[in-house]
Amino acid sequence: MEKLVVFGKNRLYGDVYISGAKNAALPILAATILSEGSYQISNIPLLNDIKTMSKLLFTLGITHRLEGNVLHLTNNGDDKLIEVPYDLVKTMRASILLLGPILAKKGEARVSLPGGCAIGERPVDLHISALEKMGATITVEDGYIHAVCKKLKGCVIDFEKVTVTGTENILMAATLAEGRTVLNNAATEPEVEDLANILIKMGATIDGAGTPCIIIDGVASLKSVDYEVMPDRIECGTFLAAVTATGGKIKVHNAPISSMTAILNALEEAGLELDIEDDNTLTATSSGYVKSVDIETSVYPGFPTDMQAQFMAAMLKADGVSTVSENIFENRFMHVAEYKRMGADINVEGDTATVKGVKHFTGAQIMASDLRASAGLVIAGLIADSESDISRIYHLDRGYETFEKKLSNLGADIKRVKSEDQ
Ligand code: EPZ
Repeated sequence: MEKLVVFGKNRLYGDVYISGAKNAALPILAATILSEGSYQISNIPLLNDIKTMSKLLFTLGITHRLEGNVLHLTNNGDDKLIEVPYDLVKTMRASILLLGPILAKKGEARVSLPGGCAIGERPVDLHISALEKMGATITVEDGYIHAVCKKLKGCVIDFEKVTVTGTENILMAATLAEGRTVLNNAATEPEVEDLANILIKMGATIDGAGTPCIIIDGVASLKSVDYEVMPDRIECGTFLAAVTATGGKIKVHNAPISSMTAILNALEEAGLELDIEDDNTLTATSSGYVKSVDIETSVYPGFPTDMQAQFMAAMLKADGVSTVSENIFENRFMHVAEYKRMGADINVEGDTATVKGVKHFTGAQIMASDLRASAGLVIAGLIADSESDISRIYHLDRGYETFEKKLSNLGADIKRVKSEDQ
């Protein structure tokens, strides 16, 4: 196993380049099931989740070759391969994104139910009920979702709750369905729009992606294409939260600024100075003095739940009291106990954490619990008065490309070492 050893107190200076968005790349890779042929997907982030998705696609008859940040995929159109096995799904819940495309393209799919994870139960009932409404016969047995439908039928789907991968699953399935599908209360995240863009390039007829109402007119077939994945707004927000907390001045390249309004507003309120140079480049300056700010996570374009732990880390030494409300997941405060081990002053009541800024807190041996919390722990380590050892960083490696290298290039004192910890 490995751990990160972080020494605090360094300010951050220099240039950082944002990688492709994990949560756009995953559905985009799933979309390669929808048509035979060769794909060249560029700006792929080098992450464990991408490796897992590539392995899943291989079991479905799609070979791949990674060259730098470009993934070359070839779909040989083997319509008999329909199963997505538990041993891979258990490491990545986003495997559920394969259900819609396999069913739409092959008429049958057998996908392991994704387990829950640290942040919540993570049900997929909305995915299943939408496909049933489109004519699929779905049984759930032995931990697998088994779906059969020769040809899905377009219809009106009213999502009871906004679900990102639920929207993406049905969006992909609807491209090959018969007739028109209307998705109401659809997720409007930019990653949904990025997926729609490659589907349209493949020949799909889609209107309204990025809005709560998406209209898809099914087509007989699609074609393989080349595509570039959008940059990762959460990775970008993570670096901006870090420099807000440590102080310093960083220039961020490949930043998806237009999709980060809520994040940028909250960090500016906390004292970060932003100089936006063009659509994808900004310079962020911080004195290290942080003002307390209240945030509430919500669906896009609100403050993203995936930035909650990182933002809370930036509030740990803020001047005043901040409240952080988590409205998307039922258990996304696992990082609070770790921050408190470092001496942070946080009180959680229901879905709200009240953070009283403290002048000092120490490093500690802390443990990552989920992907974004692990990034929050790193930020906390960067502003602690002494060394922090962060274990279970396999969570971090699922969603951040060479995170500690990018941070040390900015002057952070952080290194990855072998660890006997489990
Ligand atoms: C996506 O997860 C992201 N993952 C998550 O990012 C992100 O936190 C989440 O959206 C919210 O923005 C990917 O895109 C791969 P949801 P998803 O379905 O789609 C409930 C990360 O760090 N719900 O939008 O699984 C659900 O329990 C990850 O990269 C149902 O009740 O999230 C939750 O409370 C973590 N039934 C809410 O909806 C369903 O069928 C939103 O979940 C589906 C969801």
